[in-house]
Amino acid sequence: MILDRTRVRASFARAASSYDQAAVLQRTVADQLLDRFQWVVIDPCRVLDVGTGTGYSLPQLRRRFRKAEVIGVDSAPAMLAVARARRGLWRKSPLVAADGERLPLAGAGIDVIYSNLALQWMDPVVAFQEFRRVLRPGGLFAFSTFGPDTLMELREAWAAVDDRPHVHPFVDMHDLGDILVRTGFVDPVLDVDRYTLTYEKAADALRDLKRIGAHNAVTGRFSGLTGKTSFQRFVDAYETRRRDGRLPLTYEVVYGQAWCGTASNDNIVRVSPSAIGGRRRR
Ligand SMILES: C[S@@+](CC[C@H](N)C(=O)[O-])C[C@H]1O[C@@H](n2cnc3c(N)ncnc32)[C@H](O)[C@@H]1O
Repeated sequence: MILDRTRVRASFARAASSYDQAAVLQRTVADQLLDRFQWVVIDPCRVLDVGTGTGYSLPQLRRRFRKAEVIGVDSAPAMLAVARARRGLWRKSPLVAADGERLPLAGAGIDVIYSNLALQWMDPVVAFQEFRRVLRPGGLFAFSTFGPDTLMELREAWAAVDDRPHVHPFVDMHDLGDILVRTGFVDPVLDVDRYTLTYEKAADALRDLKRIGAHNAVTGRFSGLTGKTSFQRFVDAYETRRRDGRLPLTYEVVYGQAWCGTASNDNIVRVSPSAIGGRRRR
């Protein structure tokens, strides 16, 4: 999948003012991801939040790592502007407009990279290589991202209309584990959780996605307007999913943690990708 980065930035720029009202799932997942730090022993000097958006996690990261400088990075300056407007936040956390795949940082200077629901907008191989570069050996990478079942109801409903990509394909947990190992991370731990939001109407689900900036940005997508007939066929297909009077929308969330290896780890595969354990919960 190749993403149109200009479109990604433009979508988040447009969504910056509505993001916080609609990002209920994003905050729930951030809280879960932050909670997982209680199981690790690390005393970082520098923490990076990649794809910080409107900065929801920054105060919590500062509270968790009291001695650390916590830096927020995002490719959409409009999202950072909302983060900056949060009282007091800008004074304590530097906010940097930059692409997570090309961080304007020297190598091996970061102790913890945290990223909540932003990696699905990046190429994981490129991003993990870049994170490995800026993390110090022994540094921690903690992330959440979406797995393949995310928005499956919309993907399947659109498939009844045409064969164009309307919903992004998302990377599987085992492939992410494989990429972590190949890019020099060690001891990866990954797990998956599923969340289902429900809506009264199909249009409500689509409006929510728009308000968080989640537009289709796959290169080669159909860029014209969807005709009324096609949209109605999509709605009819989605309606077959209705249960207890509501339309479900699934999010499969992959949580991951891994440690940055040393140079001597580079050619040593310490964990077989197929042996990476996973647990699925409902
Ligand atoms: C769904 S939001 C999540 C924001 C925040 N982490 C949260 O939990 O609310 C995804 C964020 O990733 C940012 N993003 C997308 N692609 C990026 C990239 N290549 N580099 C840095 N940030 C990126 C978007 O601008 C957006 O703010």
